[in-house]
Amino acid sequence: MDFNNFGDFGEEDRIIGRQKQFDDRDEKNLRPITLDEYSGQEKVKNNLRIFISAAKKRGEALDHVLLYGPPGLGKTTLAGIIAAEMGVGLHITTGPSIEKAGDLAAILTNLNENEVLFIDEIHRLNRSVEEVLYPAMEDYCLDLMIGKGPSARSVRLDLPKFTLVGATTRAGMLSAPLRDRFGMIHRLELYETNELMDILRRDAQLLGIEISEDGLRNIASRSRGTPRIAIRLLKRMRDYASFLEKDVIDKEVSDYGLKALDIDAIGLDSIDRRILMTICDVFGGGPVGLDTLAACTGEDPITIEDVYEPFLLQNGFIAKTPRGRVLTKRAFEHLGQPIPQGFLEKTTIAGE
Ligand SMILES: Nc1ncnc2c1ncn2[C@@H]1O[C@H](COP(=O)(O)OP(=O)(O)OP(=O)(O)O)[C@@H](O)[C@H]1O
Ligand SMILES: [Mg+2]
Repeated sequence: MDFNNFGDFGEEDRIIGRQKQFDDRDEKNLRPITLDEYSGQEKVKNNLRIFISAAKKRGEALDHVLLYGPPGLGKTTLAGIIAAEMGVGLHITTGPSIEKAGDLAAILTNLNENEVLFIDEIHRLNRSVEEVLYPAMEDYCLDLMIGKGPSARSVRLDLPKFTLVGATTRAGMLSAPLRDRFGMIHRLELYETNELMDILRRDAQLLGIEISEDGLRNIASRSRGTPRIAIRLLKRMRDYASFLEKDVIDKEVSDYGLKALDIDAIGLDSIDRRILMTICDVFGGGPVGLDTLAACTGEDPITIEDVYEPFLLQNGFIAKTPRGRVLTKRAFEHLGQPIPQGFLEKTTIAGE
């Protein structure tokens, strides 16, 4: 994949955006390369350990793996680890960059036995390309059409056995026939604070950053369960430490820095709070539809749905009802706003 292309990163200004940003350009240097160095995701790791060791014993390619989950949780990292643990080469590409069936055929015929092909954003493969992938995944072969018109004929070409690792942030957008051809489907979960602390401890050491335990905890607990955000905040805190002329990122430095970045005690930033405040102030706590909310906050509806809302939903600040989004008791409390009379009773019924 092209890690050097920084032209199209979204959420440019948002320090706690999950999407990749310019700040993350040296990300690949921090990527762990063994399963032991990869923190958290215990269930996924345990399964992979078993299947990788079995495949290695048999000298076969590992079964195809689909990884899904929000951006920045370590899908690309895990694909690299799978190849390294298998002791085979890794080829990296992305769904949208494979334009024609012929492009995929070229990639597949260039693989060596048992190697890993990583296709990022696999939900964005186009149909004709996807159809080439089916026999390749199932029977390790390519069906090619040779010639045109009445003399056209189809030939079958054998491929080396390989492992396809697909990554997607949206498993629901994958077609059923493609999904069914993966032997393993793993969902990556948001990380716990102590898991993020382990990741930050390791990365701080690699980057030569001095940080105290309470500094680690302070950053980890406000990173939305996402390693990419945690690492980005760590780098920012290093700048605040140097500004404050401190050698170590401790509680004080991290409190100062997080406050300066407008990130509150549980990791919400000003845009999250603006969304919550809009639902509270303008719509009396909701329900409000996505488009209306987008118009009132000046954000794009897709961005709200993909970027802000998942964390707010997951942490119980908003709930989805058939009539739209509503604030929860927790949100009113966090905003320090009174709950309108009868509001919770009304919205709980609407949500059922
Ligand atoms: N479990 C982990 N242990 C240690 N570091 C991790 C872990 N997961 C992610 N990271 C770090 O977080 C950063 C982002 O991870 P990665 O690029 O793999 O995410 P991703 O899921 O592929 O994101 P995207 O959906 O945007 O492609 C990497 O720099 C990596 O070092
Ligand atoms: Mg990735």
